[in-house]
Amino acid sequence: MAYHVYMETFGCQMNEYDTELVRSLLKTNGFQMTQDSEEAHVVLLNTCAIRENAHNRVYGHLGKFKVAKQERGLVIGVLGCMAQNLKKELQETRPFIDVLVGPDGYRQLPVLLTRALEQHEKGQAVELSEYETYEQIVPDRVPGVHGWIAVMRGCDNFCTFCVVPYTRGRERSREPQGIVREAQDLADRGYKQITLLGQNVNSYQADGWGFARLIKVVADVPGIERVRFMSPHPKDFPPALLEAIADHPHICRQIHLPLQSGNDRMLEMMGRTYTRREYLELVDVIRQHGTIALSTDVICGFCSETQEEYLETYRLLEEVAFQSTFVFKYSERKQTIASRKYPDDVSDVVKSERVMQLIELQKKISIRKNQQKIGRTVQVLVEGHARKFPDQWMGHAEDNTTVVWEKNGHMTQPGDLVSVLVHDVSAGTLFGHMAPVL
Ligand code: 5AD
Ligand code: SF4
Repeated sequence: MAYHVYMETFGCQMNEYDTELVRSLLKTNGFQMTQDSEEAHVVLLNTCAIRENAHNRVYGHLGKFKVAKQERGLVIGVLGCMAQNLKKELQETRPFIDVLVGPDGYRQLPVLLTRALEQHEKGQAVELSEYETYEQIVPDRVPGVHGWIAVMRGCDNFCTFCVVPYTRGRERSREPQGIVREAQDLADRGYKQITLLGQNVNSYQADGWGFARLIKVVADVPGIERVRFMSPHPKDFPPALLEAIADHPHICRQIHLPLQSGNDRMLEMMGRTYTRREYLELVDVIRQHGTIALSTDVICGFCSETQEEYLETYRLLEEVAFQSTFVFKYSERKQTIASRKYPDDVSDVVKSERVMQLIELQKKISIRKNQQKIGRTVQVLVEGHARKFPDQWMGHAEDNTTVVWEKNGHMTQPGDLVSVLVHDVSAGTLFGHMAPVL
């Protein structure tokens, strides 16, 4: 009988993709995946380490499965960034974990699980690799219209606040041929949209290909309607990539461009290697290429950030008017340069206040920008039924805003590209009805 594996994923899109790789590795080695943790022999948590609240969520879930293990002898595995970064602490404080596997160790997982199941042996694979890109492993995809493809792994930027270079190791790009094959395979299986993933896609470099060439070739794959990517670093945005976004009909006119702070002293301490002015100049250059939706990430309350320095971020958000902003409270991470060099000295209350103010500001900006779309038609890739309203469809516009509209008996299916006339908006969603075909 095949062992049944139940898996949960926390964190970023790269982790979602890694879960697809792990599922594929397990299935080809005779394991069976299950959606029901009650009938599982193995529970795997694919974890994230980027902020403290990511840790806390994983600890909560581990507590739940510890009880299940006492009752019926479950094997528990912790995968991903926390396994890599906190292996010692996890072994000491949660001795019920059987298997620990970091982001470069997934090929060893089937053997480690078999040993844990059959010989009750604990195991771990937490070596980082300079070469592992999981070439030749075909991800076991989540059915739908949208697929992820990791084009590179790791990060060499060492922004001082960030744990990723320690959990995911050195930057390495995948061979373009394998990526294009994966895109063709997605198209053959009916997927319509691809997001190319990397911690810093601008530094993609393999076989003489840069990222701009790669994304154009992926966007040319017949059947693929939309290609997105995440994330570029503002410091070395290639002009050829901007031209590709402006010119290629299948590359979405949308860029997620992490800012982190609008203040030069903070940017310097964060090791971001650009200034406020250089970031704003890049935004100008992007906007000279037509309407391209911008979104960003910011951190509030980084070490010694003053009110005036925080306000520079506030004003930059007002000035640029991003389509959306992900706002994070600074969370000190073990091993990082910031944790060794700078005290985490902005109080939690102040961090939270700043986060809330930026979220409020962004909400107003998003509503204002969305209101400009009322009465206009947007092109939407149909993804499925709206979660809360089964008589409505849900999808995303090219700028990545969520769109919800009445089904009204049209012959629409997931995967179709349709025109929706917008009649109402909120900060995160456009509401509309199908535009008449002219
Ligand atoms: N604390 C808070 N936010 C962080 N991010 C990365 N590391 C930290 C940290 N230690 C945020 C950055 C990054 C996003 C993915 O997560 O804004 O762009
Ligand atoms: Fe972290 Fe900076 Fe690398 Fe992004 S670019 S993963 S923030 S070190």
